[in-house]
Amino acid sequence: MMKNSETPICDLGFGVKQESAQPEALKKAVHTRRRSSAASTCSFSSACFTGSSDEEEISPRDKTQRSTTGFTDFCVKNINAQYAFGRREIDIAEQEMPGIMTLRKRAREDKPLRNAKIVGCTHINAQTAVLIETLVELGASVRWAACNIYSTQNAVAAALAEAGIPIYAWRGETEEDFWWCLDKCISANNWQPNLILDDGGDATHLMWKKYPELFKEIKGIVEESLTGVHRLYHMSKNGKLTVPAINVNDSVTKMKFDNFYSMQDAILDSLKRTTDIMFGGKQVVVCGYGDVGKGCAKSLKAQGCIVYVTEIDPICALQASMDGHRVVTLNEVIRSVDVVVTATGNKNVVTREHMDRMKNGCIVCNMGHSNSEIDVNSIHTPELRWETVRSQVDHIIWPDGRMIILLAEGRLVNMSCSTVPSFVVSVAAATQALALIELYNAVQGRYKSDVYLLPKKMDEYVASLHLPTFDAHLTELSDEQAKYLGLNRSGPFKPNYYRY
Ligand SMILES: NC(=O)c1ccc[n+]([C@@H]2O[C@H](COP(=O)([O-])OP(=O)(O)OC[C@H]3O[C@@H](n4cnc5c(N)ncnc54)[C@H](O)[C@@H]3O)[C@@H](O)[C@H]2O)c1
Repeated sequence: MMKNSETPICDLGFGVKQESAQPEALKKAVHTRRRSSAASTCSFSSACFTGSSDEEEISPRDKTQRSTTGFTDFCVKNINAQYAFGRREIDIAEQEMPGIMTLRKRAREDKPLRNAKIVGCTHINAQTAVLIETLVELGASVRWAACNIYSTQNAVAAALAEAGIPIYAWRGETEEDFWWCLDKCISANNWQPNLILDDGGDATHLMWKKYPELFKEIKGIVEESLTGVHRLYHMSKNGKLTVPAINVNDSVTKMKFDNFYSMQDAILDSLKRTTDIMFGGKQVVVCGYGDVGKGCAKSLKAQGCIVYVTEIDPICALQASMDGHRVVTLNEVIRSVDVVVTATGNKNVVTREHMDRMKNGCIVCNMGHSNSEIDVNSIHTPELRWETVRSQVDHIIWPDGRMIILLAEGRLVNMSCSTVPSFVVSVAAATQALALIELYNAVQGRYKSDVYLLPKKMDEYVASLHLPTFDAHLTELSDEQAKYLGLNRSGPFKPNYYRY
């Protein structure tokens, strides 16, 4: 069961000037390459993800690197060659992340995360770097690994390492590298974590499997993704969750902004950069009409695509129909569509059988669950030829010459093949930071070993941090109106069950 904290979220008192919407005290050739080298060397911006392969380069794990100040507690692709570029990327992201930057400014003095020790496992890009550096400015010491083997912006990781942040991540890690990096973040000498910020649940999982004793010091887990949240609920159900956890995936600010608005931009960007596709008149099927599917379908339709939707849920199917999309089964359209986008959070939505029937040149990509929606394993068979035509773009060629274009090997295409809209990440990052602050500062007993949602007031606060960018002016409730609606004048303005 999801729970909401009954007590106001922040008794943090970082001396913030109180505005009406603020909570009280706060006031992502032939295919013979190794998995380890699947990605481009060029990571500073996904604009250059089509760069050359770095297959022959030695693994960052086999290099000795140090920052200009002699710092060595990190493992990134190439600190010296890349950190300056990465710093500029972070600077650019900061400009478009007003919410998290405001939070940084407001809480800098009070240091609500003083002595917090955070293990982070998220995508590592310019935007998450802004979050990481904010947490450090608020007093935390952090150790950070990537939650996805393809999504790290190497230059950004280099900039963080240069800034003295222990960061273990590079683009194109092997699965084994991935667990090694995470392990280095969890089990450091003279450093014991007391908070976890996870995206997918792997940091929580590894700690639970390998270092269960560390949970004694953990004050809480903040989980970003749907998958990770499912894992937490599973742990909770089986009595294995021994600390409180905040599910930020289901907070309104995360759901509506990250899943919907961000995906609207990201689907077009990802497809354009990888395939140079022209959208007008293309037939696209979007599998799943949740927030991610809705965002993808909306922008593809706006570009002139003919959009089909598949759904299992009649409510979402009705929404898709009312939005002007044809709701079909994948089998009905699989022979004719030009693009297949998965966004279900489910597994094996696109099977080998589907892929056997797709038309020549069909583009297949995934915006949903990290690597299970498209059954990629089923096309790793000897009769099919893989040609990597660009980084993250594979042609898979059937014996009769027909081919499909698979993006990012079926992993999250936006995280691997496009940039992330900084503004939207600002919303998610502010939510994550506040959730960490809340867990760290909560009085004993406020949270039990269970999974909680962020209180509504905190969602409203995150939104209010971003309104000045648009010069948006909120209307204030009069006392009479507040009484009439049964609300506090400073919020929360909606009940928890309200669907925005
Ligand atoms: N690419 C990204 O950066 C990104 C960002 C946010 C979320 N996500 C992921 O995207 C996925 C979807 O997120 P969401 O918020 O839209 O979730 P959601 O649960 O709101 O939507 C998923 C929809 O898929 C439908 N569905 C499930 N199985 C299906 C099937 N076999 N065929 C057709 N439809 C099916 C469900 O009924 C649901 O409506 C999740 O895995 C989430 O973690 C990705």
